[in-house]
Amino acid sequence: MFHNRQCCLLRNNGLVVTRTVSRSAFGAVDMNDLSDASFYIAPMLESDLPAVVELERLARLSRWGYESYRTELRHNPLAVMLVVRGRVPFVTRLIYGFLVGRVQPAARHDGRELHIANLAVYPEVRRQGLGRRLLKEAMYTGRLYGAATACLEVRLSNAAAQALYLSLGFTAIARRRGFYTDPPEDGLLMEVKL
Ligand SMILES: CC(C)(COP(=O)(O)OP(=O)(O)OC[C@H]1O[C@@H](n2cnc3c(N)ncnc32)[C@H](O)[C@@H]1OP(=O)(O)O)[C@@H](O)C(=O)NCCC(=O)NCCS
Repeated sequence: MFHNRQCCLLRNNGLVVTRTVSRSAFGAVDMNDLSDASFYIAPMLESDLPAVVELERLARLSRWGYESYRTELRHNPLAVMLVVRGRVPFVTRLIYGFLVGRVQPAARHDGRELHIANLAVYPEVRRQGLGRRLLKEAMYTGRLYGAATACLEVRLSNAAAQALYLSLGFTAIARRRGFYTDPPEDGLLMEVKL
């Protein structure tokens, strides 16, 4: 049994978007049934950091750790730090994914670039568009902060992430030999114009 309701999404640029949300009248829901509107992207808060560090470890990302994320959140006005949250009554986790990047002077052109450092989504909610939504929001914010391009490094073996980046227009522009440790592997540098 389902019913629909209207809800408002307040984006961090202040734009209010109204959507129709479909949900179970009783709140009991299978993760596989979650619709696009069951999640939203929000700015990361300091209270999210324990969950971010847990997902960083689970997804075997390059390690930043709690202190580095906290310093970035507190002191870098050009940090782009986002999380995916679930809407009540679906919520079982504080966050379902996160992205960390920063706008900085560009290495390969005049002006600024958005460098995406870490991105992960919990395994039980992968392939539902959350990684793409995080990246699109980050690219949008990067442009607002004056970045002309976005770039990132990805493991050569990480076909899932590469497919995601290709689907958003990123192209591989260089191979970074020995970029990763634990386990050691080459990286691909990928870039897109914003
Ligand atoms: C990479 C990652 C963030 C993708 O998140 P996600 O929410 O599952 O991705 P999305 O659902 O938005 O996928 C968008 C597109 O990316 C591609 N894609 C994502 N996962 C894929 C997979 N396992 N195999 C093939 N293509 C994949 C597809 O083109 C997909 O579109 P489609 O579902 O319409 O076919 C997630 O797999 C993850 O957390 N991986 C572990 C951490 C990691 O590798 N981070 C990146 C470090 S560079």
